[in-house]
Amino acid sequence: MTQTQTRNQFDTEELAIITGETGGRPTTILGISGSLRQNSYNRLLLKAASKLLSPSTRLEIFEIDRIPLYNQDLEERTFPEEVKDFKRKIEGSDALLISTPEYNHSYPGVLKNAIDWASRPYGHNSFEGKPTAVISASPGLFGGLAAQDQLKQVLLALNIRLVVQPAVIVTSVQQKIDEEGGILDPNTKQFLQQLITNIVNLARLSTRYEQTFALALQPIIADRLRKRE
Ligand code: FNR
Repeated sequence: MTQTQTRNQFDTEELAIITGETGGRPTTILGISGSLRQNSYNRLLLKAASKLLSPSTRLEIFEIDRIPLYNQDLEERTFPEEVKDFKRKIEGSDALLISTPEYNHSYPGVLKNAIDWASRPYGHNSFEGKPTAVISASPGLFGGLAAQDQLKQVLLALNIRLVVQPAVIVTSVQQKIDEEGGILDPNTKQFLQQLITNIVNLARLSTRYEQTFALALQPIIADRLRKRE
C-alpha cells in the first residue's frame, strides 16, 4: 500500500494499537522476588498480584537463585547461561514487578547481584526503558520502605520507566496475605490493583508508541529502499 491510498480496514496489529493492547497478545509482567526463601512473603505478594490481573495480562515469576555471583572476569570469558536467560526474560516482558524484602535497611545483596548482571555487558542494559514497579513486604512495621527507596534509586540509574504510585508497602504482612496469596486487607488489595493497572497502562502505551512509530516509519523506509535500488 502506498502513502496516498486510503482505506477503511485495519489489520490485527493496527487494531491492537488502536485498542491499546500490546500487539494483540497478552501484556506480560515479569515478577522478581528479592528473597530466595521458600516461604517468602515477597514471593507471596507477587502471587497475590497475579490473582488481580485482567484476562489480557500474565505474570510470570523469575527465580534469581541460579544467578552466579557477579565477576567481571566471568562476564568477559563466558557470559553465564543463567544470566542470558534472565536478560531474555526481562527484555521479552512488557513490564517488571519487583518485590523486595528489607535487609538491614536496604534491599538484599542477591537482588543487587541479579540487577548488576542484567545491566551487563556494557551497552546492553536489559532494563533500558522497561516499565517497572517496586513493591515490598515485611512482618515489621516499616514494610521495607528503606529497601524500596534504595532499589528505586539504582533502577533509575538503569533508565527504567518507574511507576511510583500508588506505593505498595505491606507492613505486618502475615496479617494481610493468606498462604495462598489471597489478600485479606482491603487497602493492600486496592493499592496493589491500582499499581498493576498503572504499569500495564504504561506498558501498553510504550508498545503502542513504538508500534505507531514503526508503522509511521514503514513507508519512509520503503521509499528510501526503493530509491537505493
Ligand atoms: C531482616 N528483616 C528486616 N525487616 C525490616 O523491616 N527491616 C530490616 O532492616 C530488616 N533487616 C533484616 C536483615 C536480615 C539479614 C534478615 C534475614 C531479615 C526481616 C525481614 O523483613 C523478614 O525476614 C522478611 O520476612 C523477609 O522477607 P521474605 O523472605 O519473607 O520475603
